[in-house]
Amino acid sequence: MAGRWKNDLRWSDVTPLPDYMNRRQLLAAGTALAATAATPAIASRRELEPNSFEEITSYNNFYEFGWDKSDPKRYAGALTTDPWAITFDGLVENPGTYDLADILKDKSIEDRLYRFRCVEAWSMVIPWNGFELKDLLDQVGVQPSAKYVRFETLLRPSEMRGQQGGSIDWPYVEGLRLDEAMNPLTIMATGIYGMPMPNQNGAPIRLVVPWKYGFKSIKSIVRITLTEEQPLNTWQALQPREYGFYSNVNPNVDHPRWSQATERRVGGGLLARRQPTLMFNGYEEEVAAMYAGMDLAKYY
Ligand code: MTE
Repeated sequence: MAGRWKNDLRWSDVTPLPDYMNRRQLLAAGTALAATAATPAIASRRELEPNSFEEITSYNNFYEFGWDKSDPKRYAGALTTDPWAITFDGLVENPGTYDLADILKDKSIEDRLYRFRCVEAWSMVIPWNGFELKDLLDQVGVQPSAKYVRFETLLRPSEMRGQQGGSIDWPYVEGLRLDEAMNPLTIMATGIYGMPMPNQNGAPIRLVVPWKYGFKSIKSIVRITLTEEQPLNTWQALQPREYGFYSNVNPNVDHPRWSQATERRVGGGLLARRQPTLMFNGYEEEVAAMYAGMDLAKYY
């Protein structure tokens, strides 16, 4: 056998040391994942190295400002974010339009380091600042018949150049089931890295739902409506076979046009090789019970 082995590798084929070390660490994390049921905490220690401020604020999806990843940074400066108000309507006890400053007065802003997984199969780790959506919903009072929460982004074509045309029926709309909205992981984010939310990331206030594909995390919110009917979100309206209402991160249910089994970590440098996508983006322990008995391939 020995004579049949041919060494066709050169020194230039040797894995660079940092790459090799990263791979060992990834493998170690993988072993830990396989060895224990309590995966998120263990995986998080290695994985949850936040992306840089620069990465988080220069590679964006915010179609109100254009379709290129660099458009939001280039054009979102035109958006006036102060004053800002949010209207609460539908099945709420205290409907009305509230100044954001008043909404924030009694909120304690927390740091939340979350994985963020876009449906396009790239991901980041983002240190958000915000408060639980539940606190806000409790404040406005949810009527017993409410089953869903509908969110709407600002409609202001004069400042949001992408709204002057395009294929999207503006304003951008998203929705959650009430239990998803009330989950402690669901936050209204007002900043990143301890700084006010950059315009391109959804200033002055956006939703963050870390176990769902990024498009659920709607930006620059001006209306929150409690409903009995499941809201039709923007992407579902555009491509119902590709984007569902739930959009939970799920490596076992592929997008019709690409696999969701792996993801590319943005700005990872040598770490930018694809990594496995985690069920519910790594938050399975916290959220899986909400979907018990549901066919997640049907309710994608
Ligand atoms: N919200 C609005 N209003 N408009 C958008 O185009 N894009 C979504 C989501 N929220 C979007 C939006 C998509 S597709 C993603 S992946 C995330 O925002 C991107 O958030 P980020 O730019 O802060 O990373």
